[in-house]
Amino acid sequence: MKPFLKWAGNKYRIINHIREKLPSGERLIEPFAGASAVFLNTEYASYLIADNNPDIINLYRHLQREGILFIRYCSTLFTPENNVQERYLTYREEFNATGNRRRRAALFLYMNRHGFNGLCRYNSSGVFNVPFGKYRKPYFPEKEMCYFAEKSRNAVFLCADFATTMKKARPGDVVYCDPPYVPLSATANFTAYSAGGFSEEQQVHLGSAALHLAARGIPVLISNNATPPVLALYRKAVCTIIPVRRSISCDGGSRGSVNEVLALFQQESAGL
Ligand SMILES: C[S@@+](CC[C@H](N)C(=O)[O-])C[C@H]1O[C@@H](n2cnc3c(N)ncnc32)[C@H](O)[C@@H]1O
Repeated sequence: MKPFLKWAGNKYRIINHIREKLPSGERLIEPFAGASAVFLNTEYASYLIADNNPDIINLYRHLQREGILFIRYCSTLFTPENNVQERYLTYREEFNATGNRRRRAALFLYMNRHGFNGLCRYNSSGVFNVPFGKYRKPYFPEKEMCYFAEKSRNAVFLCADFATTMKKARPGDVVYCDPPYVPLSATANFTAYSAGGFSEEQQVHLGSAALHLAARGIPVLISNNATPPVLALYRKAVCTIIPVRRSISCDGGSRGSVNEVLALFQQESAGL
């Protein structure tokens, strides 16, 4: 099932590769849930779905709690009259001002489908600032939301930094991490850069947290761009390269393609 949100880096297109590599276990933990493509396309008995974006978790919680009632409420925003720039900007302003969580969740979904490229971007004061998307007829993902609501009976949603989420893992859990990609411009070393607010330090921290969990018998699968520094960081894991051939533009100039890596940290393979 496709996620109901448009989300940068969503893993739906490589879901079969991920499913193949994910070990079995009781509960799946996703510290970087995003649109939750992995949650929606796996069959664990239970899930801990986390992200540090409070809007995404607020939306998931409303859908979980209210199901079809919330879906119907959201659908009322998807009308031709609401698909014009002026209305979009009014709703965006309302979203940024409201203290009503249910309204904010519904408007977040509206903006995800009516905003430019489904982007999710805030300014330094936390104000959502994505421009209008000019789509002919934005799709209302009713079927996908119903599936999510049904599936979320076995899920707990958490707004937290990945480090906090990973500390909650216990034997019997499996962890799947999909952090913001390491930038492709950093082909030779990590040096000082950060993308999507995720720094080199955090990438390194994630690598050691994965090793730490693997040592306790909790397997961790991480996906990322298959660049040399990433492969060095994951050297104790069993790495599989996926030929994604995403079209990329480096430094605004040359075009090329890139592969992704799936790194599986496990007690045995890491020699721990
Ligand atoms: C590549 S996306 C995940 C895509 C997801 N696997 C999917 O299929 O849609 C990365 C996610 O990590 C979240 N994120 C970024 N920094 C984080 C952090 N420090 N802790 C937890 N989540 C973080 C972002 O909000 C984003 O949703």
